[in-house]
Amino acid sequence: MNFKMFNKVKIVYFSGTGGTTRITNLVYKFLAEHGVTAEKEFLEHNNYLKDIYDIKDIDLIIILFPVYAFDAPEPIYKWTKRLPKGERTPVVIISVSGGGDIWPNSACRVGIIKRLQKKDFNIIYERMMVMPSNFMVSTNEHLAIRLLKVLPSKMAKIVKEILEGKKRRIKPKIAGKILTTICKLEKPCARIFAKGLKVRLNCNECRWCVNNCPMDNIEMQENKPIFKWNCVACLRCIYGCPKNAIYTKIFSFIIIKKGYNLNKLQKQIDDFELEPIENSNVGFLFKGVKEYLMKK
Ligand SMILES: Cc1cc2nc3c(=O)[nH]c(=O)nc-3n(C[C@H](O)[C@H](O)[C@H](O)COP(=O)(O)O)c2cc1C
Repeated sequence: MNFKMFNKVKIVYFSGTGGTTRITNLVYKFLAEHGVTAEKEFLEHNNYLKDIYDIKDIDLIIILFPVYAFDAPEPIYKWTKRLPKGERTPVVIISVSGGGDIWPNSACRVGIIKRLQKKDFNIIYERMMVMPSNFMVSTNEHLAIRLLKVLPSKMAKIVKEILEGKKRRIKPKIAGKILTTICKLEKPCARIFAKGLKVRLNCNECRWCVNNCPMDNIEMQENKPIFKWNCVACLRCIYGCPKNAIYTKIFSFIIIKKGYNLNKLQKQIDDFELEPIENSNVGFLFKGVKEYLMKK
């Protein structure tokens, strides 16, 4: 097999509820299995605001992020802004969606690619991965477990393609470009979302939310978490609170009522007898997920 030699690979990622982190860890693992050592950088606690970013000896950058309102999350944009000139450094972009590789989700990489190209980076490969949805509508359990089951084999194939130097670019549709512009509205909405967050009386001041918020947006005041203006609505605090004590009245429709826990799903993988995906009736909303699962 003819692999391109990448000596220094940088993986940069953001994840709210752990789906993108899982994918990132697999990318890292499969690169290592092919003898490529990568350096991972999770964009959190304001590290994406660092001013100078030395990319001189990096010969491949892999960027991963969850789809937020058909776009990339704010930390990815902020990080991109701080990058120096790319001098044609190759970049791979992997987006992670809950709804499938269908339009308008496929518009989510357009904005980031535009910015990277302006800085003279060379986008060589882009792809959408699908994970269980943490937003508005929950993925049914069988479909969600299937997504976790196929993940390692899909990622192994993708890492091999990248190392073989395969090019994969998707031509953006005009409508996609317009949509990413409109969807910039999601960013201020996320800040307002945080202002609507409330804490139930069962909060035991464990500070889990304060310590785990990737945006450093939660502070303890008078023994109660308060939410500042830097939220990206990643939903980690709501789904991760050990006491399930955080809730909201505004935008409450975006929260999955029964919660979201990938570790719990992962533990169920072996208990499910799954019929062939071709026979499953997944409903209109998850048609894109079914298509993704059927692709070899
Ligand atoms: C604020 C927000 C907006 C989202 N918007 C979309 C979307 O437009 N399309 C989609 O397919 N999934 C959307 N999702 C779902 C996530 O992209 C998906 O569940 C992903 O796996 C979450 O990744 P993470 O666990 O790494 O945070 C959204 C999630 C959040 C929190």
